[in-house]
Formats: sequence, C-alpha cells, structure tokens
Amino acid sequence: MTRADASDLWWKNAIVYCLDVETFLDWNGDGIGDLNGVVERIDYLAGIGISCLWLMPFQPSPNRDDGYDIVDYYAVDHRLGTLGDFVVLLRTAKDRGMRVIIDLVVNHTSDKHPWFKSARRSPRSPHRDFYVWRDEPPKTNTKAKVVFPDAEDSIWSWDEQARQWYLHHFYRHQPDLNVSNPTVQEEIERIIGFWLELGVDGFRVDAVPFLVGESGNELDPHVLLRELRAFLSRRRGDAVLLGEVNLPPKELCRYFGEHPGDELQMLFDFPVMQATYLSLARGDARPLRAALEAAPEIPQECQWARFLRNHDELTLDQLSEREREEVFAAFGPDPDMQLFGRGLRRRLPAMLQGDQQRIRLAYSLLLSLPGTPVLFYGEEIGMGENLAIEGRMSVRTPMQWTAQRNGGFSSAPPSRVIRPLPEGPYGPLAVNVADQRGDPNSLLNWFERMIRRRRETAELGMGRLSLLDPGNNAVLAHRVDDGPIDIIVLHNLANEPSEITVGLGRGHDRYELTDLLNMGREPVTNHIDKRGRLRLTLDAYDYRWFRLQPSDQPTAP
Ligand code: GLC
Ligand code: CA
Repeated sequence: MTRADASDLWWKNAIVYCLDVETFLDWNGDGIGDLNGVVERIDYLAGIGISCLWLMPFQPSPNRDDGYDIVDYYAVDHRLGTLGDFVVLLRTAKDRGMRVIIDLVVNHTSDKHPWFKSARRSPRSPHRDFYVWRDEPPKTNTKAKVVFPDAEDSIWSWDEQARQWYLHHFYRHQPDLNVSNPTVQEEIERIIGFWLELGVDGFRVDAVPFLVGESGNELDPHVLLRELRAFLSRRRGDAVLLGEVNLPPKELCRYFGEHPGDELQMLFDFPVMQATYLSLARGDARPLRAALEAAPEIPQECQWARFLRNHDELTLDQLSEREREEVFAAFGPDPDMQLFGRGLRRRLPAMLQGDQQRIRLAYSLLLSLPGTPVLFYGEEIGMGENLAIEGRMSVRTPMQWTAQRNGGFSSAPPSRVIRPLPEGPYGPLAVNVADQRGDPNSLLNWFERMIRRRRETAELGMGRLSLLDPGNNAVLAHRVDDGPIDIIVLHNLANEPSEITVGLGRGHDRYELTDLLNMGREPVTNHIDKRGRLRLTLDAYDYRWFRLQPSDQPTAP
C-alpha cells in the first residue's frame, strides 16, 4: 500500500483521541466542560498529533449513565452548548486536519425518551413496537446476561404502566430498542444521516453485540450492520464505523463482515488489550504473543483499534479466572479498585505505580502493534483515577491542564465542578499539561515525539504482522511488513535486561536498518552479526523500533 492509499483509508493510520465534552474544559465557568472549551483546545490536540477526535455522547440526557441514555438524538445537551457550537467545533477540527467521530448509542434509549414514554402508554402506541416487550416474566434467570450486575438482576423489568415486561441489557432506565422493527432501522439511519450531514466522519457504535438477539423476532445482527454500513457508505464514502464488540477473536472478526469489509471497518481489539495486561503483570510476552497469533487476518480496508484504557472499567472478562486474579493482584489488589468481578476502575499509570519506563513501554506497544491507536483523554500526561468517585466514573475526572484551582479545568468553585479531581501523586499539582510542557523528558513530550514517529511510519497501519522469535520469553518481537519495507519492533516486558537474537529475514547486505527511536544510542548496525541477525541487550522495560529497507532508498530521518 502506498501513502496515497493510506489517506483514502484514513482510519488505518489515524491517531484517535476520545474525550467527554463535560470533563475536558469548562469555558463559561459553570463547572461543566463545554463544546467551546473543546474548541479552545483543538490546537493543543493537533499539536500532539491527534488526527481524529471521538466525542462521547453529548446529546440531551437525564445523565443516569453519563449520557449513554439519550432522550433526543438530534440535539446537544444544553449544559454543553448548542448545535451551533457543535458545528463550530467540527469546522475548527477540520481546519486543523482533524476528523471527528461521535458515539452512536442506539441499542437503547433513556426511559425518558419520548418514544418510550409513548410506547408504555398504550399497546396501540405507534412506538410500542420500538421496544421489546413480553407478557410473561422470563422463565430462566437472566442475571448472567446483565451488563451491570451491581444494579440489575435481570435483563427484563416489569413496567407498571405498560403492564408488560421490557428488555434492557444495561440499566433498567435504558430500554433496548427493537432494531428488528424496520421503522426503528429507519430512525437509526435518520440519526446517522443527520450527523453526517453536519459533517462528522463516522461513529463509534456502542454496545454492538446487544443490538440484536433476545427479541421475539430475531434479526441477524450482521444483516443489520450490513444495511447500516451500506447506508453510511452511500451517504459518505469515507465515513467509518468503529464498533464496541467485546467478544473472543473468531466471533469478533465476523463483525468486519462476511463479504470482507462490508460491516464495521474498525473494531476495538479487546482480546489483545486484555492479554497485554496479563503480559505486563507477568513480565512475560507469551500471553500477548498468543493473543496476536489467535487473531484471524482481517480484510484490507478494515482495522483494529488499539487501546489500553477507555472510559469504562478495564474489563478482563476474556481472561481465565486465574489469569484475571493475577492481573488484579498486580494492578488492583484492593477490592475497591475492582468492578463487577471482571474489571479494574483505575487508569494505567496508577496501575503501574507511576513507573515512567514501564508506562512508556505499554504505550510503545499501543503505538507499534499494527492497528490504529485510540487514546483516552489525559493518557498523554499520565492522569490517574479518583477512587473516591463511585463505579466507572473514577476514570472520568476533569482534564488536568495546570496546577491551578480545579487543575485549570474550570474557574467555578470546586464544589460546583462536575466531578472531584484526584489529589496526591496524580492530582493536578503533580500531573498537568502546563508543567509537562516545560519538561523535555515529560510523558507529554514523549507522546508528542512518539505520535509523530507513528504517523511517519504508516507501515504500522497498513502492513502485515508477523511474530519473530527473539529467543527470550520476556520479549515481544514483531515485524510489520509493507512491500519492500519491514518495521521491526522489540519490547522487553521484564524488569531486568533481556538478551535477544532475531533473524532479519532479508539479505542484510542489501538492506539498511534504521533506529526509529534513536535516542543517542550506539548505531544499531553495530549489532548485526555475520549471519545477518540482530543481537541486542534490551534494558528493563525497554522498547526499540527499527525500519529495514532496501539500501538504495532514502532512509528515514
Ligand atoms: C457501552 C459504553 C458504556 C455504557 C454502555 C451502555 O458499553 O462504553 O459506557 O454504559 O455502553 O450504553
Ligand atoms: Ca461550562
């Protein structure tokens, strides 16, 4: 693939940044982040190399699930600004070369949505069939299917007004839409069409596996996704669907489409993300290696979205119970750090006890495994969580801009700020953008350099992965090849030096090896032996990226 292809398939080489408008920057001083605040910081994001913003839900909502409970799909929550402000944001982002995708939350609505209010009023309501009803209580216990077991025991609840049971995979105030109803499908397309018309570049599709199933009239989820994708692509050829599908590899891959690439172009790689934590906990590359090997090949136009943390709990549900216990013991031993028996409600730097070298190792993996990196706001400065906030909201604290009041997020009195910031080693006095800007060795400046290198190394987004044998279990050695160019990457997961030997696999006399993260080290070519093998000792938690290319081509600066 050429660099021109790389721009057609922009999502294969994007750097995605997820933020929630209400916690990013409060521009009018009412304690709640707003769209104008995001506009103010577009240049900050462009400056660190972000090329695509993902905005969490910002539509009107009773906010009982942080906006994932929508009452109006065509408007902006008045606390955050207006639709006019949203268009200003889009226009500003585009001017800085940044795309914008938004959450598409259509598995369910809020129970305060006018559709649900109408539906429960009468069996003859035109909206009755927008939701999934039944007369009888479920015969079997459905607790296992509940997503939030702390709050719900069943995916069916009795509605007194409707005098029927209704389906909800999430909280009972989030009734599932009946997406097998063609009218509901039309409504979903209308929503997609509306935001595309305003200029968004795609959608992060929420809760995909729950979209269908459980209803009376079963619909094949893949038929639905194919239709939505076809609609999207008719309207905007380069718009993207990024799916939240937390399933094991084989089932997961099916969501790219059966006729390759005709459903979701991007999927979050939950299996590899979970294995990464097991590998980090053990200081052993084998779990990660196994997860990468288990991933089937994906269609050319499709892509893995790589992530280490998102706004939810760090779910470890695909690990075995013993493995999960190992990760809990290493990164969240206190029961208060754990959630739903399957995850951790912490941010990465705190889990790694602030070990800068190890934090950078983790993010070097994120940036160099083939796929598109997705960052959660604040990761670039190493923000921590606030465990004093309940449940999943512990990681959704305000962005820490400065060491001033409220971390420079808002000028409102702290009691009016949307969520309390953490104190101590991860509070704004210790971790903030302003201070890190002044320090050339800060995480923020490291991210800026690494993201620049990642963007210059488009092979990592376009190429094919193979795993190399470094002769050492602590080290992940991977190669991404794209035509005549190979990117070779090494990560030492151990807290001690590791020796490695890897065959470069090409006639080394006609190829040149360049150190892509050259940080004043000895030339890498000194480490190639007579048989064309690279022999190196990696420091504890060290990471190296190299480009191997024909020697008659200009090398990367
Ligand atoms: C997704 C979101 C989560 C939300 C849920 C219900 O899993 O990531 O935050 O609560 O869907 O919409
Ligand atoms: Ca505000």
